Amino acid sequence: MEPLGKLRLGVNIDHVATVRNARGSAYPDPLRAAKLAEDAGADGITAHLREDRRHISDADIDGLVEVLTVPLNFEMAATDEMQRIALRHKPHAVCIVPEKREERTTEGGLEVAREENKLAHFIAPLREAGCRVSIFIAADRPQIEAAARIGAQVIELHTGAYCDFHAEGRFDERDAELERMRDMAAYGHELGLEIHAGHGLTYDTVAPIAALPQVMELNIGHFLIGEAIFRGLGPAIAEMRRLMDEARA
Ligand code: PXP
Repeated sequence: MEPLGKLRLGVNIDHVATVRNARGSAYPDPLRAAKLAEDAGADGITAHLREDRRHISDADIDGLVEVLTVPLNFEMAATDEMQRIALRHKPHAVCIVPEKREERTTEGGLEVAREENKLAHFIAPLREAGCRVSIFIAADRPQIEAAARIGAQVIELHTGAYCDFHAEGRFDERDAELERMRDMAAYGHELGLEIHAGHGLTYDTVAPIAALPQVMELNIGHFLIGEAIFRGLGPAIAEMRRLMDEARA
């Protein structure tokens, strides 16, 4: 199957804020990183406002909404507070992610199937406000079906297990996980969902995920911010972009 379209790269800038907050100062500024990422070819900026504000702050979100020319993907837990913030800003996209242990499946994604009613009510106003709603889930059939039923437009498949197996040299398990992602990306697409992927991706792991024809967007943060120490943020992003395009072609 031919790829469904151009693969977008969303750059997650959370860990610029992690470094800033380690000193309680204003440096380094995640907004400056976001503008640099835009210039380096990011198709979107992703930021996760956590309930404990451990990295991105409310002021960072205000600033991103103000300065970005590419879409903001606002990652948030399914809480009333985060819903209020999202409805105030109406970002292009919101991605609902688990924060507490009890919200997660064993594979690390959001437990949608058990919380279907609650999540359907939770995302309805976000959709009405014009946000594209994405749900961060494992490549698991019941979760994908539940995400489609509650009215999400997008699922972001959790690549964490695949990346961990790779890093640990457990290649049979990595390949089995990749196969599952391949099947579930196709299945999600059949159900009418747009498919994204992310978590833990690196130069070594990105190509097979970028090659999945239904995947339309990757969200990558920790590795890029780390790699920026060695080669600078712009070149780190440009290399990721190159590897994605090569895998797609
Ligand atoms: N996608 C989602 C939904 C996330 O929550 C995160 C951050 O944990 C990422 C992608 C990016 O993951 P990483 O920082 O490991 O690249």
